[in-house]
Order: sequence, then structure tokens, then C-alpha cells
Amino acid sequence: MTTLWATGTAPDGDDERSTGVQWYGSRLVLRSMGAEHARSLADYRSDPEVARHQRWDPPYTLDQARAFVATTAGLDPLVPGRWVHLAIEAHGEHVGDIGVRGDDEGRQARVEVTIARPWQQAGLATEALTTVLRRLFAAGAHRVEARCDTDDIAAIRLLERVGMRREAELWSAAFRHGEWIDCYSYALLASEWRA
Ligand SMILES: CC(C)(COP(=O)(O)OP(=O)(O)OC[C@H]1O[C@@H](n2cnc3c(N)ncnc32)[C@H](O)[C@@H]1OP(=O)(O)O)[C@@H](O)C(=O)NCCC(=O)NCCS
Repeated sequence: MTTLWATGTAPDGDDERSTGVQWYGSRLVLRSMGAEHARSLADYRSDPEVARHQRWDPPYTLDQARAFVATTAGLDPLVPGRWVHLAIEAHGEHVGDIGVRGDDEGRQARVEVTIARPWQQAGLATEALTTVLRRLFAAGAHRVEARCDTDDIAAIRLLERVGMRREAELWSAAFRHGEWIDCYSYALLASEWRA
């Protein structure tokens, strides 16, 4: 399993390219985050429309973005028990990120996707998620889950487009911008992916 999760050394300077994972889709590459992604991350996370269904409050400062990148740079996406976010790059730009959280046994994972507003509705989230699902299942994942707010129509369409099944409605399960909101829980099994 581990050869699929090729990783390298985390960057420690603003000018360095991140090393680590590089997973290619037809139009995009998913790359380990590095210092070069911090400014664009701060920009799109500061967009109130992008932040609306997420756990952070805008504006999202450059310092916050640098601290976030430092926690995830160069990490193996199946490192047990913690979120690892990969930058989504397309057309030579950093257009969003996709997070993977492997469980302690490395057989189940959670995923989440964010795309900067100018790049939405172009199929890039679909391609990024499909690329990650293919990698996770090829590496032996048994089950992949995702959650979204019950009123996050774009996320619902995305998760259902890639074949994820709505399994549950979770009442008052996420804290967003000062209030508790309901979520849907989605899942996809390896057997369903292969079918
Ligand atoms: C959720 C989110 C990632 C979805 O992004 P998105 O841009 O809607 O998703 P895609 O890039 O896959 O685009 C899908 C749309 O583009 C269309 N599209 C255009 N060109 C396409 C192509 N070449 N391939 C596939 N779809 C294409 C699809 O038909 C689809 O339209 P539809 O929703 O009317 O069916 C985005 O809205 C977002 O970042 N939201 C904020 C963060 C968030 O809430 N994340 C949820 C966490 S799970």
C-alpha cells in the first residue's frame, strides 16, 4: 500500500516547491501543499461564498493559511487519524484543495473538496474527487465517506455525481459561523466503486 503514497520532505522556505504526492487527472494535478499555496489558499478561503459551508470564518488571513499549510505539507494522505490536504492545480493555477483523512487502520477515509469560485462549475471538483477515490480504492481502502451541509446543493450534486450514497441525515452535527447545522453523510464502498 505504501508505495502509492510516495511522500517527500516538507518545504521550509517560501521559494521552494512542495515535494510529496503528485496525482494526475486528465486536466489537473493534486499536489502536496507547500508555502507557494498559502496566498491563493487565503484568497479563496476568504471568499464568503466558499466559506459558507465550511468550518472557518472569513477573512482567512495569510498567517492562518501559512499555519494550515505547515500542518499538511508533504504528508502522506493516508497518514492515520489526521486530515491531509492536497492542492488542486489546473491550467497552471492553484484552484482549490482536497482533504483526505485516513482512519487508524488505513482502510477507511473521509474526503472533502473546495474549489475557488472562478473555477467552479467546470468539472474540476468532480475530477479531483474521482482521482482521489481511484487512488484510495487502488491502495486498499474499503470505504470512503464525505459529509456536507444539508443545504449545500453544489456539494450534494458533486457527491452524488461521483456515485456516493446518502446514508444518513445528521442533526445539528456541524458548527458553522455561530450555529449548529444539519449534515448529510455520504459513503462509497470499494465493491460499489468496482461495480
Ligand atoms: C462543492 C464544490 C467543491 C463543488 O464544485 P463545483 O464546481 O460545483 O463542481 P464541479 O467542478 O465538479 O462542477 C460541476 C458542474 O460543472 C459542470 N461541468 C462543466 N464542465 C464539466 C466537465 N468538463 N466535467 C464535468 N462536469 C462539468 C457539471 O455538469 C456540473 O454541473 P451541475 O452541478 O449543474 O450538474 C464547490 O461548490 C465548493 O468548493 N464549495 C465550497 C466548499 C464546500 O462546500 N465544499 C463541500 C465539502 S464536501
